Amino acid sequence: MIAVSSQTTAMDLFCMESRPDPCGVVIFGASGDLAKRKLLPALFGLYHRELIPREFFVLGCARTEMTDEDFREHVLDAIRSSEEASEEDRRAFAQRCYYVSGDYKTQSLYAALSRRIRRLEIDHGTGGNRIFYFSLPPALYGDVAWRLGRQKLTKQTSDTLCWRRVIVEKPLGYDLDSAVALNRHLQRELDERQIYRIDHYLGKDTVQNILMFRFANAIFEPLWNRRYVDHVQITVAESVGVEHRAGYFEETGLLRDMFQNHMLQMLAMVAMEPPSSFDADRVRDEKSKLLRSIRQFQADELDRWIIRGQYGPGRVEDKDLPGYRNEPGVAPDSHVETYAAMRILIDNWRWQGVPFYLRSGKRLARRVSEIALTFKSVPHSIFVPILPEQLAPNTLVLNVQPEEGMSLTIQAKRPGPKLCMSALTMHFSYREAFGGELRDAYERLLLDCMLGNQTLFTRSDNIELAWGLLTPVLKAWQEAPANGTSVPLCTYEAGGWGPKESDKLLRDDGRRWRKP
Ligand code: BG6
Repeated sequence: MIAVSSQTTAMDLFCMESRPDPCGVVIFGASGDLAKRKLLPALFGLYHRELIPREFFVLGCARTEMTDEDFREHVLDAIRSSEEASEEDRRAFAQRCYYVSGDYKTQSLYAALSRRIRRLEIDHGTGGNRIFYFSLPPALYGDVAWRLGRQKLTKQTSDTLCWRRVIVEKPLGYDLDSAVALNRHLQRELDERQIYRIDHYLGKDTVQNILMFRFANAIFEPLWNRRYVDHVQITVAESVGVEHRAGYFEETGLLRDMFQNHMLQMLAMVAMEPPSSFDADRVRDEKSKLLRSIRQFQADELDRWIIRGQYGPGRVEDKDLPGYRNEPGVAPDSHVETYAAMRILIDNWRWQGVPFYLRSGKRLARRVSEIALTFKSVPHSIFVPILPEQLAPNTLVLNVQPEEGMSLTIQAKRPGPKLCMSALTMHFSYREAFGGELRDAYERLLLDCMLGNQTLFTRSDNIELAWGLLTPVLKAWQEAPANGTSVPLCTYEAGGWGPKESDKLLRDDGRRWRKP
């Protein structure tokens, strides 16, 4: 009894969040959508739960002209939905928010920022620790980093007592060349240890849990390989369409938007070798090794490996939905994909011959993200001929969202005298087991950045390897109409599960997609 309680206490202490140093957060693009929907609520969440010190300020920066007071109203608006906090708390947070407007391409903005930051650092006692959050079009990243550098705002040497960090948002590049150029630009001004490339999927508890599940339990790792796993499916389905982001999506498409980052990062977490420690670089080394082992797609047989689709009109819950080409801001002859599915092979000892099927799309039947491992069937069934049917294989599903948890499907005897079996699913739900709401991924990631922990941020080589895999595909798709090769853009009904061609991708291998 005593042993249990003392162990619990030690673990509880260990699980307490570390408190970061005092700091100031400068948000570029502070009047934009990301700041309003994610960054300000996440910073407020950390502040409200006292996970960050009171010596703290936010300095918003954008082109829109606003006074500090206007910005505070904007902040209050962004954090209004946080029901658990009092109005007093919200106002206290807003009082720590300030604003500077200007043109990102003129040095006078940075001179003004410099004066303001230095003043706020004295007023709030933040000791010179700073985060610059680039919630900007990536084309501006290099220039903004250079101008901050000229003003010595990001300077950090080994003898500097305070730290300076920069968080950048995707898209980190458009293809391999642009990603390499962007990395070089940033690395010219900043040390890699100052650069935090955010992928919000890595901040989700359930995605982080992949590492705990695999490497903190001894029973799964022996099965986690080509001897026992038949195949793996990774699905990120969204029921929403492009919403108000047609401008961005027309430039980007689904492969860049979801695969280059979230999908390949999740694949790396599931398939990588155990790192020697939970250190940021050791984890990221293993991810790079895995990404490097993915078999490259051959341009002349692309359609056997990758399917691209675009949603047409459809009907969901008695509501007519427009097709992608009829969405406001989308070209009527757009060839941009809103769905992609692919078969990936990993050329290493662990995974040789095990297909990983990845799919993601907009306007699918429902919002769900999951990773499902289907194990091989028993080598010989002793129940034949009593049970002539083939026994369904075991499946382990890691539910990323919306029902965070995991489930394992096994065969079990049905109660009763007859020998009858059923597939039985054991389910673990995060909410039931740990209670409460899971925190937003941005809270975790902002806190980690303040703590100087880069484990959940992608390193330059991770990014370049992912682009290296996808760039030939994007190039082939782009050239497809011109050179007459057949890389079709398939249509699918809004509210369905994607184009029928993606079913064929698995059918050709004798498998099928799970119905999540
Ligand atoms: C973003 C993409 O990175 O992830 C969006 O740009 C997508 O297009 C979103 O909708 C999905 O994130 P989540 O956390 O809602 O699954």
